[in-house]
Amino acid sequence: MDTFHERAALRARLQEARARGRRIGLLPTMGNLHSGHIALLEDLRRVCDISICSIFVNPTQFGAGEDFERYPRTLPQDQERLSAAGCDLLFAPSIVEMYPHGLTTLTTVTVQGLQDGLCGAHRPGHFQGVASVVSKLFNIVQPDVAIFGEKDYQQLAVLRRMTLDLDFPVQILAGATRRDADGLALSSRNQYLRPDERQRAPMLYRTLQQMRDAILSGIDDYRMLESSATGLLEKSGFHTDYFSVVDADSLQPAGAQTRRLTLLVAARLGETRLIDNISLDLAAPTAT
Ligand code: PAF
Repeated sequence: MDTFHERAALRARLQEARARGRRIGLLPTMGNLHSGHIALLEDLRRVCDISICSIFVNPTQFGAGEDFERYPRTLPQDQERLSAAGCDLLFAPSIVEMYPHGLTTLTTVTVQGLQDGLCGAHRPGHFQGVASVVSKLFNIVQPDVAIFGEKDYQQLAVLRRMTLDLDFPVQILAGATRRDADGLALSSRNQYLRPDERQRAPMLYRTLQQMRDAILSGIDDYRMLESSATGLLEKSGFHTDYFSVVDADSLQPAGAQTRRLTLLVAARLGETRLIDNISLDLAAPTAT
């Protein structure tokens, strides 16, 4: 696997591949790769000829007081993992390479509406930072296909919509959330958890499952379910940013008529903010 730190060299290499008719697939990451990322790479490699992973801890998507400084940076280990998993190219630019004119760029990408609620309400500017850096990555790499994990459900919705609205000729794939045996969704941030917090963390997914089962049993008072889920989590020591039952596409609060639902949660255990979600389709035969 070849590593590129500069846009120009990467572009030259990709141009060659494109000229030979190769289908290029991009996995954007912030590094500190775990088996969830490797599973996304495997999904991606099934649908492209040349796989490229980007590793860039993007400062513009972190708010003041968030974990930008302490976000784990593990490039040599990441390179080994990617290489062993058959990744073809790695793009690992510096901050100056990505933002040569400084971090306060005059041009940003905003996905109105979709970016404002849920995590957006608790992390102002986060999705603008994500949409802007992913636009830059799309322009640098010009992939045919890009993959993002479903764990970051709102991010996926924002990026799908951005791709549609700005006519990026990129197919967006969603990779299923990978979990530890006890149900905790894999995330680079799990390593911040203290041992007692790690033991309690699977409660997040269990609560989502309980609420999903309640919905499947016919309960459609979603505001009541949201507050009962929040109560359960608070009792287990979480500080809940939100637990929301929303329309799977618009991310607006679901009502009794909504058929495709997503249950989304963001909660903090100590210093660590965890997110997770479950989707369900009430119109699907298995849901009755
Ligand atoms: O999901 C992430 O790791 C990041 O938000 C992304 C998509 C790589 C953009 O920096």
